Amino acid sequence: MSTSSEVKRITTHTLQKMKAAGKKISMLTAYDFSFAKIFDEAGIDVLLVGDSASNVMAGHETTLPITLDQMVYHAQSVIRGAKRCLVVVDLPFGSYQSNGDIALASAIRIMKETGAHAIKLEGGAEVVDSVKRIISAGIPVMAHLGLTPQSIYKFGTYNVRAKEEAEAAKLKSDARLLEEAGCFAVVLEKIPALLAKEVSENLTVPTIGIGAGKYCDGQVLVMHDMLGINIEFKPRFLRQYLNLYEEISGAVKHYIEDVKSNDFPSDAESY
Ligand code: KIV
Repeated sequence: MSTSSEVKRITTHTLQKMKAAGKKISMLTAYDFSFAKIFDEAGIDVLLVGDSASNVMAGHETTLPITLDQMVYHAQSVIRGAKRCLVVVDLPFGSYQSNGDIALASAIRIMKETGAHAIKLEGGAEVVDSVKRIISAGIPVMAHLGLTPQSIYKFGTYNVRAKEEAEAAKLKSDARLLEEAGCFAVVLEKIPALLAKEVSENLTVPTIGIGAGKYCDGQVLVMHDMLGINIEFKPRFLRQYLNLYEEISGAVKHYIEDVKSNDFPSDAESY
C-alpha cells in the first residue's frame, strides 16, 4: 500500500499513457548509484542500464564482452538511486540468444537480484519466442531494432541501418511482431527519421529513438555522450549538453596544483 509521502513510480503503463496523450518520453542510460540519483531527481522518465557500460564504464570497444554478472552489479547500483523512474536493464550478449529457457533464466536473474522493472534485448523475429517466454513470466520487455550493437560484427559498421527497402520492410515487420508478442516499447537506433515515423505511427506501444529523428515517442542518449565525458564520440544525432571532460580535467589540474604547492589543505580544512 502506498502512502502520500511515497513517490509515484513511473511504470510501463505510464509510458503507454504518455504515448496516447502525445507526451514525449525521456530516457538516459545510467550505470551507478550517484548518476542514477541525479537523473531520477531531475525528472527523467526511464533509466536504461545499458550494455553500453561495456564501452563507457569498462573501456571495451564493443558491447559484447560485458557479462550478466556485471550487468547485475550495475543495475543493483542504479536501482538504489532511482526512486521514481522506470529502470530497464539490458540483457547482455550471450545471455538470451541461444534459446527461450536461457533468455528467461537471464531475465529472472536481473529481476530477482536487482529489483529492476523491465529488461531490454536486441533483435526482431529471431528473438520473438524468447520475448514471449520472458513476458509469460510477468517480466516486461523493451525491444531494440535498427542498429543493434550486439550484432556489430555482422553489420561491420555503426552506419545508419534500414536505408534499403528490404531492411526497412524487415524492421517494420519485426516491430509489429514484437508489439504482438507483448513488448511495452521499442528502441529504434540509427534509422532514417521517416522510417521511424512510420513505425511509431503504426505501433500502439511507444518507440524510443536514438539517432532515429524527432517522430519517435521518446528519446534516449548514452549519459557519457550527452554530458561530454566521452568527447571522442560525436555522431550527427548526438546533442552534447555539457563538456564534462573539460570541466573535470580542469578541476583535477587545479587540485594537482593545489596539492603540489601546499595550498591544499589549508588550516580551515584541517582538524
Ligand atoms: O546500451 C545502450 O546504451 C543502449 C542504448 C544505446 C539504447 O542500448
